[in-house]
Amino acid sequence: MRRNEGLGEWLRSRISLLVEYSKLFGREGRHYSGHLWSVLKLIALMDWVRVYTKIMWNQKHERGWPKEIWYVDLFAGPGTTLVKEKGYVVVGSPFVAHFFALLPFDRYYYVERDHSYAITLERRKNLVDDLKERAAVWEGDSNDKVHDLKRLWKNRLESGVYVHSLIFVDNQGFDFNWSSLEVLLDMPSDIILLFPTSSLRRIIKNYPRKILDFIGEEELPSTEEDVLLDFYESKIRMVYREKRGKEGYVESVTIGRRDMARPFYYDLILVTKEGRYVNAWTSIKRKISKVDPEVLDPIMDAINGKVETLVNLLEEHGPLEDYLE
Ligand SMILES: C[S@@+](CC[C@H](N)C(=O)[O-])C[C@H]1O[C@@H](n2cnc3c(N)ncnc32)[C@H](O)[C@@H]1O
Repeated sequence: MRRNEGLGEWLRSRISLLVEYSKLFGREGRHYSGHLWSVLKLIALMDWVRVYTKIMWNQKHERGWPKEIWYVDLFAGPGTTLVKEKGYVVVGSPFVAHFFALLPFDRYYYVERDHSYAITLERRKNLVDDLKERAAVWEGDSNDKVHDLKRLWKNRLESGVYVHSLIFVDNQGFDFNWSSLEVLLDMPSDIILLFPTSSLRRIIKNYPRKILDFIGEEELPSTEEDVLLDFYESKIRMVYREKRGKEGYVESVTIGRRDMARPFYYDLILVTKEGRYVNAWTSIKRKISKVDPEVLDPIMDAINGKVETLVNLLEEHGPLEDYLE
């Protein structure tokens, strides 16, 4: 954000990038096929990216560390989602994280398993200033790539460069193993992880091994969604304390609806260090849980030229900045 630029003005400039690139990328190439609910997580990401980059750049400025900040997207997709209900294309997390950062991240790592998505994303990121040089697309399984990431982080550390990362794990199919999450917990990072709650029962029935690998257990502690989510979060808190020697803040927000004929909902879990700024997540939770995309689809409105709906929503807790130390 430039000096003297108000939050509203800054948000309008960011949203215009979102709209511009959604239109540009929407014209060609492959899109991930999703629903309105699948893009709501992007609103939480927009907000947390702003909070995160503000905190990190303040720390870098005042204390000299971290020396670099990275954005890591472990389930990156092709860079766009086609919202089936509306027929619109909206840019995805790899670009949202960049557009809504107060200052660009030093490096971006995008992991995608699907070959054609990976090449589409490579081509698209080369069309965006800053990302051309700073972003790398890694084709492969995120459960393997976390080890490459850790190696890279360790090399930087050994050469005196302390790195902190924001890691987004858009794990819609319980594909991310517990052992991989432990690797992320070894590295200084904030993690936003999607827990696909409403598909839990189906996966337990059809692919029980997948859930066991996901929670890192040999037996299911329960088949109840809420109990399993609690169990998973408590386990993250415990390992966070063990590995980082301090208390972690692990809190989720439910997105979606349970009261439909075919309910669809997921929980977005934030893992960060305890501190005053976690109140910003409480504020994001309050905001997100009351957004009903059938009444208010703010990203879609923005793409249709009604930018103010999204500005108002993101500005609603403008005092997000007040939570920062
Ligand atoms: C929900 S989509 C990603 C959407 C993206 N985060 C966004 O907001 O635009 C999930 C993506 O993860 C990819 N994927 C699934 N399992 C994976 C794995 N184990 N490693 C890497 N990518 C994976 C899929 O091919 C798909 O493109």
